[in-house]
Amino acid sequence: MPFRFSVFSFQLICSLMLLNCYHLTMASEFKRYTVTSALPYANGPVHIGHLAGVYVPADIYVRYLRSSGKDVLFIGGSDEHGVPITIRAKKEGVTPQQIVDKYHELIKKSFHDLGISFDIYSRTSSKIHAETSSAFFKTLYDKKAFIEKTSEQYFDPTANQFLADRYIVGTCPHCGNENAYGDQCENCGSTLSPSELKNPKSMLSGAQPILKDTKHWYLPLDQYESWLRQWILEDHKEWKPNVYGQCKSWIDQGLQPRAVTRDLDWGVPVPLPDAEGKVLYVWFDAPIGYISATRDYFAQGASANHAMNTWETYWKDKDSKLVHFIGKDNIVFHCIIFPAMLKAEGSYILPDQVPANEFMNLEGNKISTSRNWAVWLHEYLEEFPGKQDVLRYVLCANAPETKDNDFTWKDFQNRNNNELVAILGNFVNRAAVLTQKYYEGIVPALNNLTAQDQELIEKLKTYPAEIAKSIEAYRFREALTIYIDLARTGNKYLADSEPWKIQATDPERVKTILNLSLQLTANLAILGEPFIPFSSKKLFDMLNLAPLTWDHAGSYNLLKEGHLLNKPELLFEKLEDEVITKQVQKLEDTKKENEYASLTVKPPKEAVQFDDFTKMDIRVATILTAEKVAKTKKLLKLTLDTGLDQRTVVSGIAEYFEPENIIGKQVCLLANLAPRDIKGIESQGMILMAEDKDGKLSFVSPGTAVSNGSQIS
Ligand code: MF3
Ligand code: ZN
Repeated sequence: MPFRFSVFSFQLICSLMLLNCYHLTMASEFKRYTVTSALPYANGPVHIGHLAGVYVPADIYVRYLRSSGKDVLFIGGSDEHGVPITIRAKKEGVTPQQIVDKYHELIKKSFHDLGISFDIYSRTSSKIHAETSSAFFKTLYDKKAFIEKTSEQYFDPTANQFLADRYIVGTCPHCGNENAYGDQCENCGSTLSPSELKNPKSMLSGAQPILKDTKHWYLPLDQYESWLRQWILEDHKEWKPNVYGQCKSWIDQGLQPRAVTRDLDWGVPVPLPDAEGKVLYVWFDAPIGYISATRDYFAQGASANHAMNTWETYWKDKDSKLVHFIGKDNIVFHCIIFPAMLKAEGSYILPDQVPANEFMNLEGNKISTSRNWAVWLHEYLEEFPGKQDVLRYVLCANAPETKDNDFTWKDFQNRNNNELVAILGNFVNRAAVLTQKYYEGIVPALNNLTAQDQELIEKLKTYPAEIAKSIEAYRFREALTIYIDLARTGNKYLADSEPWKIQATDPERVKTILNLSLQLTANLAILGEPFIPFSSKKLFDMLNLAPLTWDHAGSYNLLKEGHLLNKPELLFEKLEDEVITKQVQKLEDTKKENEYASLTVKPPKEAVQFDDFTKMDIRVATILTAEKVAKTKKLLKLTLDTGLDQRTVVSGIAEYFEPENIIGKQVCLLANLAPRDIKGIESQGMILMAEDKDGKLSFVSPGTAVSNGSQIS
């Protein structure tokens, strides 16, 4: 059942938006916009989580600004340093450069194919980035903005290498996850440093690391605390609650100096004479990547709409508004660390807004690259050719703006069928098809306007500003809802005026109805461009119009009487159940593969001869008594009826079984194991147990009761 947008809820949203006119006033103070989107790691393809959180909203924002005639530069690129890339390279037996070359191209192409309209998609393994980031480091070094510190860090003696970040795994001190990384626990989301991990192990060799002295450069964030407190907590109270809240909690916990260099051989070399084998920390160089990308863009020859500026205009002019689109795991880096770096450097502007989103889950589970739990953009583009806008639409309509959200294929189908097809597509199609049928595609005259027409015209006028307000306040879901409501208004207008019923009796009236419906269609083409650019283009083509900018929207005079339209084509098509079932099945398969892979079965033992096996005398026995062995946690003292005798066996199963629960149980006993003294008790044999992958024990018992002393062979 499609969601009905009542007049009431529309008014409610409008009045809510009035409260937010602050953003509009702010926006108009800036002359231009520098819009960045997080640089994805080039160690894997991009998935719907990246898109919903960062790239779709950023692209909507930028397309809207461009359409409104604003000077905006949209920056993207690949983040090509960091340990995950070197680990992946090692696993695949190739160089890190080969890894980033492969994924950079794949990511760049898939963004392009989805219509993410970067002005530049650069990369951090480029020469211009090495120059820009090392110069940035050098400036801070010369200004004495770093502290130099020698400390003990983990070192793998077998691999002869320091273990930064993800090169080290261990137990998370917060949640007990045994596979936490040296920089982060993916289970509870805590940011960690290697020294906090319990039972640290090297990712390279599995060896237990040793501690060794090494010198690094640190950005003393503690010295920026009072400035950050003022700049964020006082001057940017308008930041989204999730962003503001995370910043506040970081600042309130007390900021520590952070190392900005690492002992690694993949990255930008530290530009100092005594820094052999050291590179810039990936989170130091990557955000500088935004600046390098801007320089790259101007070095390659900027397009005419930017050519009056230089890269520095977008980074140093106070009239430029810097906006970072990111996911919530990047908040601290973009709101605290990078601004502190920019502040230390001194000549750069600071972000005005950091509209970070929460996470998009997939069918109820967290998206995970390593578990292949994702909808990959490049696969979507292949499997749903021509349906870029469906994905863009669904990801915006369901964007995790204020809380984590869930992408499901069912919702994808519903939104396509009930909103894009049934509301937007339906309206546009009726307007275009009726115009073909009655007037051979020629825009009819606008005759006398009725009260109903006047109402439509008045309502139409309000949409561009309402949508703009929501976009400028980074409420893209709301903007899209208002946009779809315009198509819904169109449908209602047609349903109320019923041109198909009165064409025979009142053809002059029908001309007006269709003229206005076509004007509305032109408005849908303009206002839809940020959200669904491919369909917007199709609409303009159908209307035989060159694309119009935002300032034209709201008018009912976009198509002149007598203007010839092109043949109508369907904007959206219904998605059948089979298509959706196939995608759901694909995820089911992934789930099974993961379950299978997570069974850690121990490798087989060496072969033994049959004679060796028959030396073991394994018997069925019944537990007669059981009691805990004093001062031990694991041991139970058991008396067994073996059919041959009654004997005592000490068994390490106390953590899994209560003594009273196992009395009377039939078990298998290795009866001829030489007696051993355990905690002062002579144990005469050993009970056979099965051990699960998580260490849980269970008895091995005969399938049905058999007499004690039965032999197992
Ligand atoms: N590669 C990082 C991530 O995927 C984002 C880097 S954003 C930048 O989490 F600012 F550092 F470039
Ligand atoms: Zn944890």
